[in-house]
Amino acid sequence: MNICVIGAGYVGLTTAAVLADWGHQVQVVDVDQSKIDALHQGKLPIYEPGLERMVQRNTSRHRLHFSTRVRDGIEENPVIFIAVGTPPLPNGSSNLSHVHDVVRMIAGCCIGSSEHKLIITKSTVPLGTNEQIYQTFIDHGIHEKSFDVVSNPEFLREGSAIYDLLHPDRIVVGTKTERPVETIKQLYRCIEAPYVFTTLTGAEMIKYASNAFLASKISFINEIARICDSCQVSIEDVAEGIGADRRIGPHFLKAGIGYGGSCFPKDVHSLMYSAKQKQVDTPLLESVTAVNQSQIEYVVQKLQTKLQTLGGKQVTVWGLSFKPDTDDTRLSPALSIIGSLLQRGCQVHVFDPVVKHAPPGTQFYSDMYDAVNQSNALLIATEWKQFEHCDWRKVKSNMHGNIIVDGRNFLDSTMLQAYGFVYLGVGKS
Ligand code: UDX
Ligand code: UDX
Repeated sequence: MNICVIGAGYVGLTTAAVLADWGHQVQVVDVDQSKIDALHQGKLPIYEPGLERMVQRNTSRHRLHFSTRVRDGIEENPVIFIAVGTPPLPNGSSNLSHVHDVVRMIAGCCIGSSEHKLIITKSTVPLGTNEQIYQTFIDHGIHEKSFDVVSNPEFLREGSAIYDLLHPDRIVVGTKTERPVETIKQLYRCIEAPYVFTTLTGAEMIKYASNAFLASKISFINEIARICDSCQVSIEDVAEGIGADRRIGPHFLKAGIGYGGSCFPKDVHSLMYSAKQKQVDTPLLESVTAVNQSQIEYVVQKLQTKLQTLGGKQVTVWGLSFKPDTDDTRLSPALSIIGSLLQRGCQVHVFDPVVKHAPPGTQFYSDMYDAVNQSNALLIATEWKQFEHCDWRKVKSNMHGNIIVDGRNFLDSTMLQAYGFVYLGVGKS
């Protein structure tokens, strides 16, 4: 199939590479010249394990092409994926200007053309947006038989995006009619997963409800972890114990400094905003957000209690991305915790395996062991594998103090205590 993917970001690029790997002809278009230039040289604008090889493989097979000529991409391909960003606005809603811009461009290209266009929305868009997209085509005078709009949300996690695309739990397809269903099945013929067919808005709701539910699980376990701290119970035992119940499940029960990234915070807020527009209260989602925001202060407070005061203390933070195996720092809890430490007068030293720029007010180190030199405490904000398997003896001898704050509950506390560290986890000691 001949496909155009608009947007070479985390979602668009991974989706395009996988579609090409399945044998489709894919043209990726993006307005960002520097991204396209890098892709022409075989370099990725983002860090995502396995993606560079997949992109290079399919570029050399002539199945994957990159261009800034968005209009050409639209005109030359019957299937168009929309994967442009929908960043959050200060009022909690999502910025849809990029989506509407490209939709108007696609509709403009359809005027006077006899070729059918299938428009597939991958970007996460608020309830009712795909209906608006459909209406834009009608308003442009495009006959309803000349196009189809499909809402086909992504469920890929950064860091394991390729795996998630190849092994989805389900493929959600929102349509207005049956007409595009066969084409969608052809597109995804290489994977086995159950389909969930619904309306355009139904698919949007499934995406928001999925992310809101996962975010709720994280805030739930973080709140339970605070109670565990107060009664010396291990949150890991609790997560194992409740996760073994198949009605609950073991996933997304990892306590720590909370969730971040380009999806959960934005999507929970956007869902609350949509509900408010319809005069629906969302006390549960408000609590999910409140727990997540206060989790940062909860952990900083723990460190302050140990150090008496944070003013003038040197704290090293390992990990800047919102999760391991990505360079994405959008709404990263690591950055929030760094902000809180700076506000309390700490000198903050930082290190990350792939993010190579220092947050304002911090000192960046390219070596993780140099970063801890003379620090009073080491706070680990992202569970990168190399932190778990580091030389703890060296860390200990480089540090001035002996406090480790495990913001992701992934370290072996018994082993660290044997090295002479004071270990501070979240619901874990
Ligand atoms: C995606 C989804 O689109 C978003 O809705 C979801 O919630 C998270 O995942 P993401 O891939 O992370 O977003 O966005 P980003 O990495 O910012 O990439 C978007 C790309 O679209 C950028 O490369 C940008 O240059 C491009 N773009 C944007 C266009 O090509 N045209 C535009 O008009 C606007
Ligand atoms: C999420 C969704 O999982 C995915 O389906 C898609 O809709 C895009 O958004 P992503 O944000 O890339 O994926 O990563 P995810 O693995 O879901 O982690 C999100 C945040 O939650 C990270 O900050 C992570 O550290 C945190 N998290 C995750 C926890 O704090 N505890 C957990 O148990 C799991």
